[in-house]
Amino acid sequence: MKVVRTRGECAQARAELGLGTTVGFVPTMGYLHEGHLSLVRRAKTECAAAVASIFVNPTQFGPTEDLSTYPRDLDGDLAVLEEAGCDVAWLPEVADIYPPGFSTFVDVEGVTTVLEGARRPGHFRGVATVVAILLNVVRPTRAYFGQKDAQQTVVLRRMIEDLALGVDMVVAPTVREPDGLAMSSRNSYLDPAQRAAAVVLHRALQATRTAYAGGERDADRLRTAMTEVIAGEPLAEPDYVSVADPRDLTELTVVDPAVGALTSLAVRIGRTRLIDNELLF
Ligand code: PAF
Repeated sequence: MKVVRTRGECAQARAELGLGTTVGFVPTMGYLHEGHLSLVRRAKTECAAAVASIFVNPTQFGPTEDLSTYPRDLDGDLAVLEEAGCDVAWLPEVADIYPPGFSTFVDVEGVTTVLEGARRPGHFRGVATVVAILLNVVRPTRAYFGQKDAQQTVVLRRMIEDLALGVDMVVAPTVREPDGLAMSSRNSYLDPAQRAAAVVLHRALQATRTAYAGGERDADRLRTAMTEVIAGEPLAEPDYVSVADPRDLTELTVVDPAVGALTSLAVRIGRTRLIDNELLF
């Protein structure tokens, strides 16, 4: 596996793979877990070469968020990337992505104003901007993202289409711990009691799925199914629960099975904010 740092080195490594080579790209913020590695392995299976980036992107963190404490393990990450079959690992510094004078940002409108976007102002502007830069340097055939960050996939799909970036977007299922907790680098913040409590997100989604499978189509009653499960966990403080149109993320009144619904939630457990979601169809 080749390890590169600057934009120039990455572009050079990409050129060396060959213009006609299919390249699968997995952008990450590091502290890699099975969710990331499943994307790398899939990229390697579906494309001739796999490229991954590790960059804790400062522009997607709010001023009171966890940028300075975000978990990092570069040596561990490189070892598991190599094992997963990654061909090129790109580890840019902040100044490689945002050199002095940098002043261009990508703002996706509409779908960024709700859910995570409403609670984390500027977050998706940071995500869209960095992903646009990463895609422009790596020039992949396909880019791989996890369903865990459902709104991010909707925002980036919009950006890729609107800006004609010419990349196929692949969204892979959320990888879960045996008890159902969605894998996330932020799970490392949880102490044992919080870790046990965190399974409440998955249980809340399951309650909604069960209600939906039983014929419930009223979105408020589906939201209540989630809220009631969260209320039963003393360590969990709900931020939002949502039953939204999976295409544009507008909140639903009634779920039309022909369209389905994205059920999602954000919950604070201690100082850690966790998100999870499930598609109902
Ligand atoms: O999903 C993430 O880890 C990040 O938002 C991404 C896509 C790597 C952009 O920094």
